[in-house]
Amino acid sequence: MTNSLEIVFSPLSADLEATSLLLAGEDMALGGRGKELDHRSGGAVAKAAEAAQFKGKRKSTVELLATPRIGVSRLVLLGTGKGAELKENDWTLLGGSAVGAISARKTKSASIIAEAVDTGSTRPEAVAALIGFGALLRHYEFRKYLTKQKPDDETAEPDTLQKLVIHCENPDKARAAFARHQAVAHGVVIARDLVNEPANALGPIEFADRVRELEKVGVEVEIFDAAEIEKLKMGALLAVAQGSVRPARVAVMQWHGAKSKRAKPLAIVGKGVVFDTGGISIKPAAGMEDMKGDMGGAACVVGLMHALGERKANANVVGIIGLVENMPSGSATRPGDIVKAYSGQTVEILNTDAEGRLVLADLISYVQERFKPRLIIDLATLTGAIMVALGKEYAGLFVNDDKLAHDLLEASSTTGEKVWRMPLDKAYDKMIESKNADIKNIGGRWAGACTAAAFLKYFVKDTPWAHIDLAGTAMDAPKSEINPSWGSGWGVRLLDRFIADKHERAEK
Ligand code: BES
Ligand code: ZN
Ligand code: ZN
Repeated sequence: MTNSLEIVFSPLSADLEATSLLLAGEDMALGGRGKELDHRSGGAVAKAAEAAQFKGKRKSTVELLATPRIGVSRLVLLGTGKGAELKENDWTLLGGSAVGAISARKTKSASIIAEAVDTGSTRPEAVAALIGFGALLRHYEFRKYLTKQKPDDETAEPDTLQKLVIHCENPDKARAAFARHQAVAHGVVIARDLVNEPANALGPIEFADRVRELEKVGVEVEIFDAAEIEKLKMGALLAVAQGSVRPARVAVMQWHGAKSKRAKPLAIVGKGVVFDTGGISIKPAAGMEDMKGDMGGAACVVGLMHALGERKANANVVGIIGLVENMPSGSATRPGDIVKAYSGQTVEILNTDAEGRLVLADLISYVQERFKPRLIIDLATLTGAIMVALGKEYAGLFVNDDKLAHDLLEASSTTGEKVWRMPLDKAYDKMIESKNADIKNIGGRWAGACTAAAFLKYFVKDTPWAHIDLAGTAMDAPKSEINPSWGSGWGVRLLDRFIADKHERAEK
């Protein structure tokens, strides 16, 4: 839950807030406004930099306090390094660093003088907008369960930043460029909020209620309740849900933004296990609390659909998520049970903790049959094995189509949400063959992320398809310039960018 941050774009010449941050390039290169401040202060800015041996190195800072004649009470210099070398995502990160530096000073409002000397291939108004984007992402906090204990309890209610004025060369253009970033930031925040929410407050029904809110941005929402899911015969998904007293939901979200309303949509599928105990194949106690984040894929889909709706993306996109809770109980699925998936194929469930793939299998089959999508991308916190392979830096990318792989890798490098291509191979298909049913839900000891992907592939027909295993990146994320939160909202930026760059232009 973020305390909302108002972002205002103003001319470079406008009055500054009492706390202001000035960008400085390599070797203390300043723009016109920076030079003017230095001049007015009788060279105090340059002298302070020199005294602190500040050379404008990226992310380095120096602070001037109560400097006469510059009209601000504190001026923080933030280094950009060589501006010409910075890419889109670097400016976003810099916006995050700026808010980090400002927030540490506990102020309710601040100015950023976004006047980089050399912005290379990125236009100055785009730089200002990206700084605003990074600022919003960094400003996030999840504090809704912290009650104020004592009036002087700093942890309960700090002086949070509420207004950020970004001074730049062309505020009108920057504001226009910022609108789409703002929509994406809102999507990221929605995804983070969903991941951070504890499972007692966010069961399948509550999650579905949150999905309904997408209607406000023009996304069409359908929610299937347990009876409807039974009627659809989603036997694999229901096998996961049956141990919980909280019934399953499936949410279908449609954004019709393409010129042709009938253009085939892109389908984005998300694993929404609101809590994964492992079921009868129960997980060890240590760290099990993290499994409240086992709906990170679904959260990403919801955040993405919000972003597309808010920025009125020029594409047709359908999002589908399966919302279930994986619990052990008298009604839970047992190891050895055989169930019939939506596709009509049978699955032998040998480990009830390999539940995400059961949910996704039915969603993938359903979305293909109903929407005939031009491609499918699924997102799931699917395996611990992907973390063993890639840690928390990269999500695993499994793709059956090289063009789709290329496009996703490109969006990945633009946004900095990193994916690493992993193999699909007949050898992994073999590992999930079952004697008693068409397929079993676990492979052997090795290549856990790959056999999970092979399982999903079994349900994909002749459609370009990508599976993104975000077990390592969706939750318990390392803190970064633009993410201070446990739930990262990972994937919203990646897929928004993928759609914008690869599927909107072509549509126009
Ligand atoms: N939700 C887990 C995967 C996971 C682990 C996500 C850690 C995030 C952090 C998934 O349902 C699971 O339990 N997978 C098992 C599969 C195994 C039983 C074949 C795993 O990875 O251990
Ligand atoms: Zn599991
Ligand atoms: Zn799981």
